[in-house]
Amino acid sequence: MAQRMLEITGLNGWYGESHILHGVNLHVDEGEVVTLLGRNGAGRTTTLRAIMGLIGSRKGSIKIRGTEAVAMSTHRIARLGVGYCPEERGIFASLSAEENLMLPPRLAEGGMDLDAIYAMFPNLKERAQSQGTRLSGGEQQMLAVARILRTGARLLLLDEISEGLAPVIVQKLAEMVTMLRRQGYTIVMVEQNFRFAAPLADRFLVMEHGEVIQEFTQAELPSRMERLHEYLGV
Ligand SMILES: Nc1ncnc2c1ncn2[C@@H]1O[C@H](COP(=O)(O)OP(=O)(O)O)[C@@H](O)[C@H]1O
Ligand SMILES: [Mg+2]
Repeated sequence: MAQRMLEITGLNGWYGESHILHGVNLHVDEGEVVTLLGRNGAGRTTTLRAIMGLIGSRKGSIKIRGTEAVAMSTHRIARLGVGYCPEERGIFASLSAEENLMLPPRLAEGGMDLDAIYAMFPNLKERAQSQGTRLSGGEQQMLAVARILRTGARLLLLDEISEGLAPVIVQKLAEMVTMLRRQGYTIVMVEQNFRFAAPLADRFLVMEHGEVIQEFTQAELPSRMERLHEYLGV
């Protein structure tokens, strides 16, 4: 049986006084790709940020490979092999692509070296010396993901990586996710672009008001499409 990579039980989360997560329950097995769906404001980004220890306060349980992380600092969580790619990507404009890539420290065993990253992202090799701002949106997104692969993360939290990108680039990102999945990475994606996410995920979780309210597998997707269409407008 696959190892449980992430197990969240009864997670409550706050930004200051605002109570945003109301008892999230979810689990992700090693090697799975899971997509969080939901309407805007459902709490998907907050869930990823909570896993990383980036929100005001958390209660409940977040186990990463069996280790309780709900009270850990972001730095220690990263050391457990968790990498977070935020919606805003966080590429430094004044640094070159390669400098951006080299920025985060190696945190866990098995981080990719530059050669491995460039073999996986030939585009980035070509653009290695280009300044952050000179990269296209798609290149910046690839760079943001490549950067967390260097740290040794095996659990990747990807927030709306396809957002604002042209269809041909979105296709490239789909290939990237498929390749990472084949290499055994565990991925939790938040996606608004359902057509992008639909063929990639092993499982789908639907969030509403800071809770997971539905869950189904890739095989169950066809029978869910009509309801999803009504619910999410996808
Ligand atoms: N920094 C913040 N401070 C206070 N409330 C926030 C903050 N970020 C998000 N929220 C609120 O948390 C709720 C969930 O937001 P979010 O997790 O971003 O949803 P989603 O990613 O599913 O669209 C929303 O009501 C949003 O307004
Ligand atoms: Mg969001």
